[in-house]
Amino acid sequence: MAALAELRNKFGELFGGDPRIFRAPGRVNLIGEHVDYNEGLVLPIAIDRDCFVCARSRGDRRLRIHSEQMQETIESALDAPRPSQHHWSNYIRGVAWALREAGQRVAGADLLISNDVPMGAGLSSSAALEVSCGLALLKIADAEMDFVALAQACQRAEDEFVGMHCGIMDQLTACCARRGHVMLIDCRTLATEMEPLDESQVAVVVANTMVKHTLAASSEYNRRREECEEAVERIRIERPGARALRDVTWTEIEKFASSWPENIRRRARHVTTEIARVRAAAAALRKRDFVALGHLMTQSHKSLDEDYEVSSPELNLMVRLAAALPGFLGGRMTGAGFGGCTVNLVRANAAADFAEALSKSYKDHRGILPDVYICHASDGAAEIT
Ligand code: GLA
Repeated sequence: MAALAELRNKFGELFGGDPRIFRAPGRVNLIGEHVDYNEGLVLPIAIDRDCFVCARSRGDRRLRIHSEQMQETIESALDAPRPSQHHWSNYIRGVAWALREAGQRVAGADLLISNDVPMGAGLSSSAALEVSCGLALLKIADAEMDFVALAQACQRAEDEFVGMHCGIMDQLTACCARRGHVMLIDCRTLATEMEPLDESQVAVVVANTMVKHTLAASSEYNRRREECEEAVERIRIERPGARALRDVTWTEIEKFASSWPENIRRRARHVTTEIARVRAAAAALRKRDFVALGHLMTQSHKSLDEDYEVSSPELNLMVRLAAALPGFLGGRMTGAGFGGCTVNLVRANAAADFAEALSKSYKDHRGILPDVYICHASDGAAEIT
């Protein structure tokens, strides 16, 4: 906790006084990619890397925020905020805005932020940032909000204030995850089930290609969402009751989808088959059938690459290199894609060697040393006392 003591000191130097400290984790999704905004099912864990926020309320209606990563302090009015173009502070000012929109009491605050979740890596550093700041703003104003509602406010901030039209998976995981467990989230009802992850049998190994996804990725992401909406409109001609891609299987729509534009057909095929894979993956996890789970993860990658077209050469390379190593059960890109990390399911007794060999092999091929590590399923957001 030396780092936290340092952070506390830094807060004193910057703003004066003694802060309360909050944390929220990043996440890695085992399977169920690009299905949350189609009201599907996802299977993420929270990772053991967090965003930390030192926070203290102020007597006025201003926010002062310092980011350790950006090495910048900003000051802004709490009331009537407007997003500034592509600025990191939009995530936090957006959360303050969304909390107030949700009827919460939010007071002026000094915030010092240190985010250990790597940015642009598909591990959802943004949800960790939003949720840790949201929790801090609520707690220092003595406000109460349940975690599902907090996740929804954070998603709204990213959707409407930042302009990335994301689903609910990341924020809900950062809020509600449980140590040693995988979450099965139904993104339609927001119901979650916790499935124990037997870490004596398998390890989750995250491998960062070190290629960050960029702003272009966010417009591609928004475009995928529109393509899915178009698919739903087309489905509704045949099945007026369908509300989302969640409501149909690929077998049901395959026949009439053959006349659709190629991109729309492929996006629908990915989403519908991915939701089926998540159901099968949850069943495999319950039975501790890790071979089946790994296989589904590898199939998911192929679908994301070929049908959803959100992978990248580096992600494909990382998956291919991993598949050749002892202990590998399955692997895929994780998160929005276009760069970032892969997630691998590996036999626990082989995991350390696997991580080392994958690192070396990727470096030999790409000349970049990737960050490869065994990641443990962690708890959702909390105050650190
Ligand atoms: C990003 C979004 C999530 C989800 C994933 C893809 O992480 O924030 O809501 O859509 O991409 O599965």
